[in-house]
Amino acid sequence: MSSEDFPKDFVWGVAAASYQVEGAWNEDGKGPSVWDMFCRTPGAVWQGQSGDVACDHYHRYPEDIALIKALRAHAYRLSISWPRVLPAGTGEFSVAGLDFYDRLIDGLLEAGITPYVTLFHWDYPYELFCRGGWLNPYSSDWFADYTTLIVKKLSDRVVNWMTLNEPQVFLGLGHQEGRHAPGLRLPISEVLKATHNALLAHGKSVQAIRAHAVKHPLIGFAPIGSVHFPVSDNLADVDAARQAMFSVTKKNCWNVAWIADPIFFKQYPTDGLALFGKDAPQVGSNDMEIIGQPLDFYGVNIYSGLRVQAGADGKPVEVGDPLGGPRTAYSWTVSPESLYWGPRFLYERYKTPVYITENGMANVDWVAQDGKVHDPQREDYIRRYLLELRRAIRDGVDVRGYFHWSIMDNFEWAVAYQQRFGLIHVDYTTQKRTPKDSYYLYQQIIKENRVV
Ligand code: GCO
Repeated sequence: MSSEDFPKDFVWGVAAASYQVEGAWNEDGKGPSVWDMFCRTPGAVWQGQSGDVACDHYHRYPEDIALIKALRAHAYRLSISWPRVLPAGTGEFSVAGLDFYDRLIDGLLEAGITPYVTLFHWDYPYELFCRGGWLNPYSSDWFADYTTLIVKKLSDRVVNWMTLNEPQVFLGLGHQEGRHAPGLRLPISEVLKATHNALLAHGKSVQAIRAHAVKHPLIGFAPIGSVHFPVSDNLADVDAARQAMFSVTKKNCWNVAWIADPIFFKQYPTDGLALFGKDAPQVGSNDMEIIGQPLDFYGVNIYSGLRVQAGADGKPVEVGDPLGGPRTAYSWTVSPESLYWGPRFLYERYKTPVYITENGMANVDWVAQDGKVHDPQREDYIRRYLLELRRAIRDGVDVRGYFHWSIMDNFEWAVAYQQRFGLIHVDYTTQKRTPKDSYYLYQQIIKENRVV
């Protein structure tokens, strides 16, 4: 195996999420989600756009499966729309909604693609939001019941499960900053209460998967990476970056440890408890046992990272990006090192196999005169990031797979169709799909199982 090769059974995947690609927002009995409602709030989403149609994946999934197959991807990370299968969030399920996921999973398996299913990627049932959403003390039971329904339906074919996607974001941007659905600006005590309920929901969902799965399940979740990486390999800088990555220093839940420590260590981090003081959530006597269900993998979404060096006292000091350094169309810093240090720090701390469940970039892509989509920046990004990931694996980090975000351009939340993350270009007026140059690069990487 040369230094560029990936491990033999490495999983090469692509990712997307229900609200961002499906469309069909009110078809076949689907109930509204908080994103359906948020998009109808004036000023909430760029140019008043919505996921009503998105990539029309709900109808065009056979074509999309064919494109994933032609890419030679081994796996596809998809999410289930909770209100599509349970229009009111609880109670009566929609036969048509469940059938859609049945067909999607069957189609993937027939094409030789392994489905990785995320149970919640932010399209929360609006009816449950009206009943208090994540603040409702029963919210974790609602999620467990929904999990049970899905697992009973799909676990004869689905093995890989993720509970929550990026709790930091739907709680932070959705419940504290009001920039994502449901658009709330709650005080920190309430945000932390919702976060605690979401953690309980995660734990009960893991229990439900293990209780009902037909095929032996492999279970993880997909939080944000929030990577901090050292400016040098110098031990002091590495220690400082590690400290920064796992500390809780701001009154929000936008960090790694507040979410992952309860899951892996059955306790909230002490610095966070001290910082939040009386705003910290009430923890029931059995809560941490429920939250701390063993996981089979740590899924993590990593796009970028913050550069850190050791100050005179050894404490972390954030150093900004290099002046004029590379940024994506979304203005996110290009920092390939985040795909080395992120998995490495997470694996050291939580000792659980890692999957990169999302990584990618927004680029200025359009169909050129020659009918192709040229995205050299994305090609370079993919190579650089994967070389760093390869280095992490070589240094002993147990990384099992990589999912590129995204298989195709899609509805990028509050900035809607302004930002394009896909390996495949989507013309939203015709729904024509055009694989970009990066699609062919990734195809070659998968084929050769190596990156150079
Ligand atoms: C997230 C979500 C994705 C985004 C992607 C690009 O990370 O915010 O999981 O749905 O589209 O990350 O922002």
